[in-house]
Amino acid sequence: MKKTFYITTSIPYVNAAPHIGHALEFVIADVGARYNRLIGNDTFFLSGTDDYALKNVLKAEEAGEEISGYINRHADTFRKLLKDLNISNDDFIQTSTDARHIRGAQKLWSNLKEKDIEKKAYKGLYCVGCEDFKIERDLVDGCCPNHPNAKLETVEEENYFFKLGNYQKQLEELIESDKLEVVPETRKNEVLSFIRGGLEDISISRSVERAHGWGVKVPGDDTQVMYVWVDALSNYINALGYGGDDKLFQKYWPGVHVVGKDISRFHAIIWPALLLSAGVEIPEKVLVHGFITSGGQKMSKSVGNVIDPFELIEEYGAEAVRYYLLRHISTFGDGDLTKEGFKDVYNGELANGLGNLVSRIMKLSEDHLEEKIERPEVDSFPKEYTEALESFKLNQAADYIWSRVQALDRKITDTEPYKVIKVDEAKGREMIKELVVELYLIGRLLNPFLPEASVKIKEAVLANKKPVSLFERK
Ligand code: MSP
Repeated sequence: MKKTFYITTSIPYVNAAPHIGHALEFVIADVGARYNRLIGNDTFFLSGTDDYALKNVLKAEEAGEEISGYINRHADTFRKLLKDLNISNDDFIQTSTDARHIRGAQKLWSNLKEKDIEKKAYKGLYCVGCEDFKIERDLVDGCCPNHPNAKLETVEEENYFFKLGNYQKQLEELIESDKLEVVPETRKNEVLSFIRGGLEDISISRSVERAHGWGVKVPGDDTQVMYVWVDALSNYINALGYGGDDKLFQKYWPGVHVVGKDISRFHAIIWPALLLSAGVEIPEKVLVHGFITSGGQKMSKSVGNVIDPFELIEEYGAEAVRYYLLRHISTFGDGDLTKEGFKDVYNGELANGLGNLVSRIMKLSEDHLEEKIERPEVDSFPKEYTEALESFKLNQAADYIWSRVQALDRKITDTEPYKVIKVDEAKGREMIKELVVELYLIGRLLNPFLPEASVKIKEAVLANKKPVSLFERK
């Protein structure tokens, strides 16, 4: 049955240029979008940037740059990464420059129930890295576990608070029953146990001074701007016109959010609670991916193991980067990537693997088949493939495709059609035809993963012409 499908990436901070972790999230969401289009669903795919974070401002100030100039420059590098990776997002929302974002965020705020909001004085420890207050039970050795080297800031001010606890029971039920699906199960359990540990009020605004004048104004209070997570989360509905011309919102919401494991609580707890308070439908699903390390360590400039996605794309092409992230990083687990490991995978699995297979088969086909192959008539996809994709086990779906690539390779070696054709031409041709048809089917399955290779393979088969080199050896 045809349906609508709405998928989003999280919106990254623009305090620096994108890293390979952002690339991972983009390609995961992209496969979700491309797969849904492939099976005929009316799909909308959103990405964007999170501009109003305090850490963006601090970085701009450190660089001695004007805030909006600094932010726009970095936002453009995220746009470029999406383009360079061949990500098929239908829209991009930039929170500080998009009027629809500011309008929607203010609308959501105004719709929050009065009983859920309270203005009060607060004193707490703030982690700028997480853009979040920390409580005792979050800390490890007195530090934020995500940013152990950063100093926690003691902040004391009067803010608006949201009574998250009002939604504790409801959130627990929604997540437990999968009305709000949190995937994978381990993340669902983590979120549930956090909820059961008790939900405290959260501060949802900042004084204009502490925010360095940067943020979405709280409706009706000029002294306060919204806490960045509140405006940022609302991007998912604002992009669809919430609070304005909401045709797309009516059509596509609720959606699926693809996020990293460090921000699952914001998406599976705070976000649905805000929506419940404002009387808006909650998201359908939160898909939580893992983290990429390099050489077993967190990427950091001081260790010198930071992997720049642009460099990899420049050297190996977008398809190779997509391939590595989708097949060699488990969608829901953590994964590792080093430059050496990447090169080995590229040469072994793409240049000598798929690339070589395509040229072997198309050479046989060019040499021995006179008539072009008709487009194979297929209207469904194998169960192993659809089941893995429906449950977002993307590396499993990629493994399935590669099992067919390997089987096809073996079939050539085992049946030796290039020898058969010399003694029995008709039989040899039949065998080559079979190889070519299977190659076409593989090309079709590759569509969400390697969209360019997919097209090149299918076109080569239909034209009976070897494609200009696919994955040259490095
Ligand atoms: N701005 C917030 C998101 C707001 S969404 C309403 C944010 N930005 S971020 O730039 O820090 O992270 C963006 C995404 O990248 C998150 O999903 C995060 O988990 C992911 N990753 C950051 N580092 C990562 C890795 N090393 N590996 C994989 N993903 C990583 O959080």
